[in-house]
Amino acid sequence: MRLLFLLLSLTLAGAALAQQGPGPMPEDPVKALQHRQAAQPGNNNEAWREVRSGDPKYTTTTVRGRETEVAIQSWGDTWRRIRNGPMMFYGGWLLVLVIAAILGLYMWKGPVKLHEPLSGRKMRRFTAFEMTVHWTTAISFCLLGISGLIMFFGKNVLLPVMGYTLFALLTQLSKNLHNFIAPLFIVSVAVMVIIWLRDNVLRSYDWQWFRRAWAFFLRSEHIPSGRFNGGEKAWFWGGVLLLSIIMSTSGLVLLFPNFDQTRWTMQHAWIWHVTAALLYIAAAFGHIYMGTIGVENTYGNMRHGYCDETWAKEHHEIWYREVKSGRREPAGGAVPAGAPHMKEDA
Ligand code: HEM
Repeated sequence: MRLLFLLLSLTLAGAALAQQGPGPMPEDPVKALQHRQAAQPGNNNEAWREVRSGDPKYTTTTVRGRETEVAIQSWGDTWRRIRNGPMMFYGGWLLVLVIAAILGLYMWKGPVKLHEPLSGRKMRRFTAFEMTVHWTTAISFCLLGISGLIMFFGKNVLLPVMGYTLFALLTQLSKNLHNFIAPLFIVSVAVMVIIWLRDNVLRSYDWQWFRRAWAFFLRSEHIPSGRFNGGEKAWFWGGVLLLSIIMSTSGLVLLFPNFDQTRWTMQHAWIWHVTAALLYIAAAFGHIYMGTIGVENTYGNMRHGYCDETWAKEHHEIWYREVKSGRREPAGGAVPAGAPHMKEDA
């Protein structure tokens, strides 16, 4: 009976306490923290105010150096929100919409076609060295792009499908591939810029390509161009040069964190790196489309180094006339007498 009475009074006292709330804020800081957790569960203001106060934290005693006094860096939380919020949302939609636009164009209008039949006579368009540089850049770009996308979107897109074990293996592989292939891409893209710089200088006739680009895609209209047309030049300066510079510098800041850069610097480098990467990948979809199924008879130029004369005349007429008249050397250097740069189809 006495035990029953004791239990009843304890329960009533507990209920009364719960109704009253946790009571006034205690003076002692640890107790104050416990008190806040009881009064407002999930409110971490106190901890974040402490983090952001700038007062030195515990690591000073063990390691010395830049930022070693910052145990929790508060901008890390802001960076995480930017990464998982707008960057993932707009980046994801950018890629999906670009793919949809390309597929839509292909289904609506089909590839850009030649007006005349192929001549069967081939012109040298790229040297073996140019092709090696192009494919080294292209393959390393694809590996960097795929591994980068796995690291960025994988947690939301792949993890739910493949589970933790496989996803952990795949992201680890992606991270290592990304780190080791990046230097190869930087070097090959730098060589590419050097070898194609001269032919990508903008000329007055290129404006016509930009003005008539819609007719090129929608009506397969023939627009006279030099060795590279306006669209290729935009890809060269905007993508290959500008975006590669942004990606390479920000990537090196992230790849070698041992140059005393702060976490803030690396978080900003990450934002530049991934923004440029998403734009670069979206633009590369356009380039890959035009180099494969988007413009008839183009893929072989970079695969074998030769283009058909009809293709050259219809897509790069100024270059075609320069080469035919001997005013410029075809790719690969001077044409030996009697054995011009052309090659007949078997
Ligand atoms: C992986 C798929 C790719 C394919 C199938 C592809 C295909 C082609 C083809 C067929 C050409 C020759 C076009 C012509 O004869 O005018 C070309 C040119 C070129 N490609 Fe690619 N490419 C790919 C990726 C890349 C990447 C990733 C880059 C750069 C990061 C790149 C940069 C270039 C450049 C700079 C040119 C010369 C035209 C110019 O100056 O803009 N390509 N590509």
